Amino acid sequence: MAFPPAFLDELTARNPIEEVVGQYVSLKRSGANLFGLCPFHGEKTPSFSVSPDKGIFYCFGCHKGGSVITFQMEIEGLSYPDAVRALAKRAGLEVPEDEQYQSRYRQQERLWALHKEAARYYHSQLYAPIGSSALEYAYGRGMTKSTLTKFGIGYAPEQWTGLTDHLRKKGYTDQELRDSGLVSVSRKNGNLLDRFHDRLMFPIIDVRGNIIGFGGRIMNADSSAAKYLNSPETLIFNKRKNLFALNLAKKSKLGYMILVEGYMDAIALHQYGFDCAVASLGTALTEDGAALLSRYTDQLVLIYDADAAGQSATRRAIPILERAGMQVKVLQMRDAKDPDEFLKKFGADRFRLLLEESANRVEYQLNAILKRYDLRDDDQKVKYLQESADLISTLGSAVRREVYGNRVAEAARIGPDAMKLEVERARKRRLAREKKQQEKIDLSPVRNLQPKSRAIRYDNVRSAVAEEMLLALVLQEPALLDHTGTLTAEMFSSALLGKVYDQLRSRHRQGLEVSLGGLVDLTAEETAHIAGVMQRRQGPVNEQALQDCVRTIQGEYQTGQVQTQEDLLALRDKLKERKGIKE
Ligand code: CTP
Ligand code: MN
Repeated sequence: MAFPPAFLDELTARNPIEEVVGQYVSLKRSGANLFGLCPFHGEKTPSFSVSPDKGIFYCFGCHKGGSVITFQMEIEGLSYPDAVRALAKRAGLEVPEDEQYQSRYRQQERLWALHKEAARYYHSQLYAPIGSSALEYAYGRGMTKSTLTKFGIGYAPEQWTGLTDHLRKKGYTDQELRDSGLVSVSRKNGNLLDRFHDRLMFPIIDVRGNIIGFGGRIMNADSSAAKYLNSPETLIFNKRKNLFALNLAKKSKLGYMILVEGYMDAIALHQYGFDCAVASLGTALTEDGAALLSRYTDQLVLIYDADAAGQSATRRAIPILERAGMQVKVLQMRDAKDPDEFLKKFGADRFRLLLEESANRVEYQLNAILKRYDLRDDDQKVKYLQESADLISTLGSAVRREVYGNRVAEAARIGPDAMKLEVERARKRRLAREKKQQEKIDLSPVRNLQPKSRAIRYDNVRSAVAEEMLLALVLQEPALLDHTGTLTAEMFSSALLGKVYDQLRSRHRQGLEVSLGGLVDLTAEETAHIAGVMQRRQGPVNEQALQDCVRTIQGEYQTGQVQTQEDLLALRDKLKERKGIKE
């Protein structure tokens, strides 16, 4: 939804960025900027900067950046409108909501209430006579009464319209029932029918405590139906952006989190005292899921099932979690297929032991390499040693290199010294390679200037530098926008920078604040890029500097035009030639 620009200006003015950021990060002034430890990635020395004058934040480490609104979105995991609302509340401003938003929000509220009612219904059925065998099943799987209450476990009876009737009685319309995903429409006659039949029901709850969907498990082992059935995606339920049990785990005092595959695993862990367990919702872990987790912890223990699928999911999850700034440990299930089974077989103490010795990333990867080679074969043994040495050579600490090197040497039954030599050789190769890469970067400033993301890569770096400079200038001195003459957005080589120019200029003409906060239609990545541009580009702010930029942009644009013309002519000739050969 679009908020009136004047309101957004007021909002930005009433929420000084250093104050808002200061609630989350301890900041120290250094010159015009404030610095602190970045809340979005783990770091020991501050590379996170806030510029009160420009109203922006930018991290030189992880390249996140933007306005006070962006910050609020990122730090609390809010959508744009919700971040605006939170800041308005903070500053005591009334939000001008439009009709569309209000009706959408009302709709969401109704669905949350509907789900709560459904959960109540399912839970009551579990203790009704009709639910006796389900209750027996739950107890049989080791769930205590207090676990059933804590997770709000329920039972969907074997009926066509049990829930449908109940919700209708409570005043929900057929449209709302359909929107909830908890009922489906009969193909035969269009009647509404319950979606879940004869299943043990697990409510899925978001971090704010709203019930947003359900997972349901069949209890009859002979049934051909899918073991688990989940709510479909709805207005309030997004599988990729929610994790099972996070509403509980986020309050854990353990200081780390455990990520598992199944509902039952998460529930068992909580019951056995590991109240920091969460499960993904019947899908692989996504970037969104990792980002959500990283709001609560930077220490993650990954425990996927012992089967091949679990192992490959582990391999895929590690980089996603690490990119979200988390330290990942992997716990391999032994003598049990999953944590639920392990706890029931061996108890919490044995599990705690396993946790303590759970392998870090390197150990896990070394094991993975080991599994790929047959060490009885000499050729394969050499390959195993080389690949392991490559991995170990990435470790910064000499002690760790030695420890892991020794372990690999032992596995391959070679002397520790030979392995040490191999690791050092790999390390030298790596350092030389990195040095060369660094030199390349240093010697060619052009590379340095490229945005991190491919999506906003520059085609014409010379022009892009001028474009960046120009934006930095007008953001510092909006009056300069009166002097850009015939410069238009189309002349910009970068569509993104052109778009920003266009928006700033039209805001200036309407007498609105020329600031990053007022920009619309940018992705988080684009906003961060622009914030980075502003933090990096410095120099005198005057008309002379502006005109230099304008000239370069227009000059490059014209050359580009000519080149395109020439290219087209050349292309036409080539095509003609080819045709000639064929004919
Ligand atoms: N899952 C699913 N649909 C299926 C099977 C599994 O959505 N047909 C999801 C569920 O979220 C489930 C998770 O994948 O919790 C893990 O599946 P699985 O290992 O088969 O289930 P467990 O949690 O071990 O369940 P149980 O112990 O009850 O067999
Ligand atoms: Mn299981």
